[in-house]
Parts: sequence; structure tokens; C-alpha cells
Amino acid sequence: MASNLMEKIVSLCKRRGFIFPSSEIYGGIGGFWDWGPYGTELRNNIKKAWWKNIVQMHDDIVGLDSSIIMNPKVWEASGHLSSFADPLVDCKKCKKRFRADHLVESMEKKEDGIATLTEVKELKKALKKIKCPECGGELTEPRRFNLLVPTFIGVIEDDKSKAYLRGETCQGIFVDYDLVRQSNRLKIPFGIAQIGKSFRNEITPGNFVFRSREFEQMELEFFIDPAKDKKWFEYWKKERLKWFLDLGVDKKSLRFRDHEKDELSHYAKWATDIEYKFPFGWKELEGVANRTDFDLKQHSKFSKKDLSYFDEENKKRYTPFVIEPSLGIDRAALVFLIDAYNEVDGGRTKTTKSIKEKEVVLRLHKDLAPIKIAVLPLLRKEELKKEAHRVFDLVKTDYMSEYDETGSIGKRYRRQDEIGTPYCVTVDFDTLKDKSVTVRDRDTMSQDRIKIEELVKFLKDKLE
Ligand code: GAP
Repeated sequence: MASNLMEKIVSLCKRRGFIFPSSEIYGGIGGFWDWGPYGTELRNNIKKAWWKNIVQMHDDIVGLDSSIIMNPKVWEASGHLSSFADPLVDCKKCKKRFRADHLVESMEKKEDGIATLTEVKELKKALKKIKCPECGGELTEPRRFNLLVPTFIGVIEDDKSKAYLRGETCQGIFVDYDLVRQSNRLKIPFGIAQIGKSFRNEITPGNFVFRSREFEQMELEFFIDPAKDKKWFEYWKKERLKWFLDLGVDKKSLRFRDHEKDELSHYAKWATDIEYKFPFGWKELEGVANRTDFDLKQHSKFSKKDLSYFDEENKKRYTPFVIEPSLGIDRAALVFLIDAYNEVDGGRTKTTKSIKEKEVVLRLHKDLAPIKIAVLPLLRKEELKKEAHRVFDLVKTDYMSEYDETGSIGKRYRRQDEIGTPYCVTVDFDTLKDKSVTVRDRDTMSQDRIKIEELVKFLKDKLE
């Protein structure tokens, strides 16, 4: 059932224009995806919801948009050139490549599917018993494989022109920390938030957009007094869980999982994952980490710029600690899609003949729904189309709306249910006489007859 659900989600995403394999006409490219028209709207809505929650609603948090390619010293200082690596094994026979920790984990059939055995020496022991899952061949010893994606700047491709696509957006925040603090006269505690693309040469991208090589992150670096790290760590854990719950994600499918000591990233003192119960198991959705003063101290050391802070209130100097909630938009979008996916008995839209035939309803939170309002003339008659266009013009200024006149009204309701549109507005022959329309609610299926002149206010009350 679980993998069946993933197949249904993947199929719905392609059929209805949420997500396509990248460059599909050339056979695609592993670990890269394109977001179609509805997918783009969904992503934008996720970003808007996050930005509002994090930046707009906190007077001590500001935004940043730093460059994807930075001075390569950034990645030396951050430790990514030496430590940002996954353990890798090759099959000597079929030459397929695997992540060693994933192989061990699947052999041990760990329910949560999280690798804790990331240390190469531990893996070497565990891998002795394991053969290639594809052909049964012998595997090589595990090697560390750096995940940063290299590129070259300028005309000559040599070591001097080598740079990297960023592997996490937060490094731009750390290197700009003092510029932002001074230009905006910020005092500890304060946060800098950023949304942007990250790139990782993942060995085994997979589970649709769950793990890809190009993805987008929403990261907050919250700079604090080191003495208060426990308080702020707990604060951000709670806040971040609440965000998912407020956007309608099922409480039973979310949990915290603290990192074991041996799986902590090189920069972290503590880390907790907010995990989601995906059809392929409990997996990390968002990470909340106490990165301590690791990054600022490293950048201080490598750049020779003092990044310490004088706390005037407490009369002490320190390098701030950082609490970091970090979420991938692609992964969040997948969670919202899975969580909203519902199959209901047929007959709801009169396009299915028996209740055995299922209809799909995407019960996305209204703030996330790609299209908020669909305007549908009952039939393709000139006078109805004209009136429906007038109604469409009325609602489109406030909300992402869609006008659709193709196919039976049942089919059009069904299409809107499948993409999660909360309200369908139908223009029928009575509309021409009574200047009223029918508003259909996706979830309750209630139908309200509303005067056109009151329609915008009616929808505003529902959607805000
Ligand atoms: N700055 C900290 C950091 O990047 P991470 O745990 O590596 O930490 C944070 O990534 C979040 O970014 C993850 O919880 C996940 O939502 C998302 N993410 C990481 N790698 C990803 C990938 N390959 N594909 C999609 N999303 C990814």
C-alpha cells in the first residue's frame, strides 16, 4: 500500500503538472526535477508561508539573498571540503555504486531507515557480510565521497578557477553575518533567514524529490548568547513543529528524533530531526541543530576578521552560538502532497459511476493550494462564458484563480479536487437572471448561492 501511494503521488504530480523529471525528452537526469505550473505555485506558497512565519512575524529576524557561488575558501573554512562526504561502495561485478550506510541500514531492516553507522571503520565491519543488492557481486571497501558540486569560473579550468555550488544556503549567512548585523543595527538574539537553491552530488538520489541533487532550502540562523542555547534550541523545535501542524499536517505522522552522538554533523553539538512518516518509512523532514560558534569561529580564523560580539546588556564578549532550523522546500512539498492526498468514494463529481471507483481529493491547506478559486461556466454557451469571464476578472486580482470551460462540469470539479482547489465558482443560466453564482467547497461539498457583488467578500472571509 505504502509504495502504491508513492506511485499514485508520482503519477498525479506528472499528470496534473506538479513535478516532471528534468529534461525528460533526453531521457532525464538522475536527481533533478522540474516543477510544473501547479508545483511552482505550491512551492511559492510554501516559501511565502515560511517567510511570513519566520521573517514577517519576528521583529528580530531579517532576510538575505546571498550568491550560490562563493569564494571557495568558504567551504574550506566551513569544513565541507574535508567533512561533507558520504561513505561509498562500488560493486566489482556490475559496477553499480551505493551508499554504504544505506546498504547496511537496509540489510538490518531498520524501521526508521536512518543511518547511524556513518563512520567508515564501523561500516567496514558491517559490510563484510553484504553483497551487491543488484547482482550479488563483491563490494569494494567504503570510501568517502565529497558531496560538493565543483564548477570552474573563468576561461581556464584549473585549481585556481575551481569553485563550488553551495551545499547549504547558511554559509552565505555566516559570511555576511557581520555586514547584516551592522547595517541593520541588530542585537543578540537575532536571526538571518534565507531561501535558495543548494546542490549536492548525492550518491543515491531517490524517493522522488525526497533526495535530489538540486534542491531548495529555507534556513534560519538564529544567533544567541551561548549561555542560552538550551532555551533557544527548545524554542525553535517547538516553533517548527507547530508550523507543520498549522499547515494541516497530520500530528500522528510527525515526530522528533534526536541525533545520536555518532551521527551529528561536524558542526553540531545537538541536532533533532523533525521526521515525517513517509510511505517509505520515518525520515528526516527538517533538521534543527545547535551549530554552536563553530561556523563563525571558523570563518573568523580563515578570513582573519573578528566576528565576536560585545553584549552590552551583559557586558561580555563572545562569539554567538547559532540555532539552525533547516528545511528543504522539495521535501516539504512532498510531505504536503502526501499528507493531503485522499481517495474518496466515487460519485462525488458524477464522473465516476460506482462508489468502488475512487476519486482523488487533495486536501491542501488553503494557504498552500496552487489555485484558490476555479471559475466554471456550467456549459460552453457564449452568454455563460462571458459572465464567467467577468466573475474570473473579479476574483483574479486577489487570488490565484483559474478559468476552465472544457469538459463536463463533473470532470472539471474532479480536476480541481485533484489539484486541491478549495473553491469552485459555477456560473449557470440562473446567474444571468439573479446575478448569483454557486460556490462549491472542496472539503464539505456544500454549495452556497452567492450574489456576484458579494462574492469577493465571501471568498475573502473563507480564505483568510
Ligand atoms: N544547513 C544544514 C543542512 O543543510 P541538512 O540536514 O543537510 O542540514 C537540511 O539539510 C534540510 O535540507 C533537510 O532536512 C532536508 O529537508 C533538506 N535536504 C537536505 N538534503 C537534501 C536533498 N539531497 N534533497 C532534498 N532535500 C534535502
